Amino acid sequence: MEKKVSYKELGLVNTREMFEKANKGGYAIPAYNFNNMEQLQAIITACVKSKSPVILQISKGARKYANQILLQYMAGGVIEMAKEMGENIPIALHLDHGDSFELTKSCVDSGFSSIMIDGSALSYEENIKLTKQVVEYAHPLDVTVEGELGVLAGIEDEVSSEVSHYTQPEQVEDFVKRTNVDSLAISIGTSHGAYKFKLQPGETVPPLRFDILEEIEKRIPGFPIVLHGASSVLPEYIEMINKFGGKMENAVGVPEEQLRKATKSAVCKINIDSDGRLAMTATIRRIFAEKPGEFDPRKYLGPAREELIKMYMHKNEEVLGSAQKA
Ligand code: G3H
Ligand code: 13P
Ligand code: ZN
Repeated sequence: MEKKVSYKELGLVNTREMFEKANKGGYAIPAYNFNNMEQLQAIITACVKSKSPVILQISKGARKYANQILLQYMAGGVIEMAKEMGENIPIALHLDHGDSFELTKSCVDSGFSSIMIDGSALSYEENIKLTKQVVEYAHPLDVTVEGELGVLAGIEDEVSSEVSHYTQPEQVEDFVKRTNVDSLAISIGTSHGAYKFKLQPGETVPPLRFDILEEIEKRIPGFPIVLHGASSVLPEYIEMINKFGGKMENAVGVPEEQLRKATKSAVCKINIDSDGRLAMTATIRRIFAEKPGEFDPRKYLGPAREELIKMYMHKNEEVLGSAQKA
């Protein structure tokens, strides 16, 4: 059994103050997913070096993969690691796409400072009911809660959808009021994974639906908005993967300019997972191809970690604007 622990004892923070500052400052907090030690080390190192606040995201699948008890200790460890590196950056530990009250409760009880309850696949009323139940458990413990309205195409853990259903602006005010959530994930054209848009030859990526975002902002001014599925699927990594034996055709993501534009709005949390997976895979493929005799994991996971650090620093400095905001 995992030990009951409050995130405050671990030195973590919830997302409330992070979002307030990000909204006022016109930038977004990076929410990077991790599943293993090297990814976690890279995220913390990049955010310490660029002095950025950060949200560490764990999906239900990641929690199962990495072991929930180990994760609890890893979360405590990163705070000490950041301090040892000389920076006391704000770090939140967040459950990504929680799908049941039991899972969210277990995360709150084991040191998470922020929770997403994703009821977007449910009916509107069922979504409200579940989200409210999570908020009522989390808030007395000062844990912040993210809800979701609208459906993203692609895979969200075990939930998958072929098509996206944009968030309906006329629902947001009622949803926020009745659930009392702290932030809201919306659907304005992004999707999860490395294949976000199906393009015909010569076609470019369609812009995100900033018109819907504006409508939402009008109805809930200043309320923290979250963008999922925000990887850019950087072409350099796709090229490297394909060059060194991989096969990822037609992989395409959200252009960085679109994300930069979003950070100037009420979007104050941007979720990125796939870009980390791609950077790591590309580097490991290159090393395996160039040094077929290499069999020490440190010799390929180490360079993959270095590449991740570079990529996350680029995001913080050039895309999200969170660098120097810790
Ligand atoms: O939104 C989904 C995240 O990228 C997590 O993915 O469920 O495969 O860990 P996962
Ligand atoms: P990407 O697949 O675009 O990285 O999105 C990640 C995400 O939304 C995690 O919740
Ligand atoms: Zn997501």
